[in-house]
Amino acid sequence: MVSDIRERRHDAVRRLMRSGLLNDDAPLCGVIDLDTLRECASELQRTYRSPAPTLHAVAAKSVTLLPVLREFAELGLGCEVATAGELSLALRAGFAPEHIVFDSPAKTRSDLRRALELGVAVNADNFDELERIDALVREGASRSAVLGLRINPQTGAGEIGAMSTATRHSKFGVGLADDRERVVGAYLHRPWLNQLHVHSGSQGISLEHAAQGVRLVWELAEEINARAGERRVTHLDIGGGLPVNFADDRITPSFAEHREAIERAAPGVFSGRYALTTEFGRALTAKSGTLIGLVEYAKQTGGRRIAITHVGVQVATRTVFAPESWPLRVEVFDALGEPKSGDPAPHDIAGPACFAGDLIAQNRLLPPVEAGDAVAIPDTGGYYFSTHYSYNALPRPAVYTVGTESDGSRRWRIARRQQRVDDIVADAGLHADADAVGGLAHELAELSADVPREA
Ligand SMILES: Cc1ncc(COP(=O)(O)O)c(C=O)c1O
Repeated sequence: MVSDIRERRHDAVRRLMRSGLLNDDAPLCGVIDLDTLRECASELQRTYRSPAPTLHAVAAKSVTLLPVLREFAELGLGCEVATAGELSLALRAGFAPEHIVFDSPAKTRSDLRRALELGVAVNADNFDELERIDALVREGASRSAVLGLRINPQTGAGEIGAMSTATRHSKFGVGLADDRERVVGAYLHRPWLNQLHVHSGSQGISLEHAAQGVRLVWELAEEINARAGERRVTHLDIGGGLPVNFADDRITPSFAEHREAIERAAPGVFSGRYALTTEFGRALTAKSGTLIGLVEYAKQTGGRRIAITHVGVQVATRTVFAPESWPLRVEVFDALGEPKSGDPAPHDIAGPACFAGDLIAQNRLLPPVEAGDAVAIPDTGGYYFSTHYSYNALPRPAVYTVGTESDGSRRWRIARRQQRVDDIVADAGLHADADAVGGLAHELAELSADVPREA
């Protein structure tokens, strides 16, 4: 499997470099290998079987591309969404509302109404949000069968502070140690509240650490049910957060290891007494993606070889701003897409943006990189195509998918075209007259009017 992933990636680079699709006007693109993506999804479905109903909801934030989300829907997965926009994407991709889970710490009243009217599962983030849902349930607006509360198990930080959702002061959910009794009360008073949600993520969290959060929430479910004298909590949503190996092509840790860690910590989770939801993002998507960018210039500065490429902060935001937390591999290919050889030398692989820190890799040992070559950045299928950074008006790159068809052929499709320069100019305010921005003439006049100061 490791060699398959590498071989398919190299084949994709070879074909792209010979196709002319990478050129002056489109010097960067992404490719998603659907075979790798399908293998990851089927490993999850195989290893996470439970006697109770299980919904594997891919985290939409990891890959906001409709054709890729559609692929997950066709594979039988659900979808986790965190904004109104992601909810619309999930519906357009073909996920049934009851296979969608809505998490967010900032749902507005209209977000909640829309989700409940659709019948989407919702995990409330806090007690105030539960009260908003109370009002909608009283009104009869809810068609949702699964409604939960997100618990912060407060088990501590992982290796990446900005990604740690289970710290004592995390912005997500209700702190278990802070408010356990209030949480139990919330369930005892609300017959419609039937799910507990936890997500200890993301990347940089050990399997044992994540399993500890699941154990605490499972124990809480048992306590609520014992005190209610009936099965009030029937669903556990154990989130995502399985870390990805960015060092080579091995898919490790595996979903099976993740499940084993939970079974050791909280065997009752898979007893069949709870319907389960998972919300993996990166582990389902990262390994399938590659960024491929042309090398525009190669030069030497201060004794260091520097390759100026078209892969930079616009697509690899986290790597550029936090390189220690998000290191990426770099592979070098010649103009015909053949892997380059030659004595490795230290290189900086720079992106196109106008700031010195726009570097994908620093002091990296690579075969000599020259103008006209291409660099391929593996493991970028998760979050790299959904966190575009529009500094310097750099366009969102095209993303292609390639996958094996039933007749054995490998078929290429476009998942997203490159953002057009005209779209960038329009978004920058080209049409910012009142009519084009949605009839705001009245509001703008109000804003401009004299307002008498209070005495
Ligand atoms: C609530 C929730 N679920 C799932 C995910 C997906 O996490 P990962 O991509 O690490 O699996 C996230 C990521 O931020 C999240 O916030």
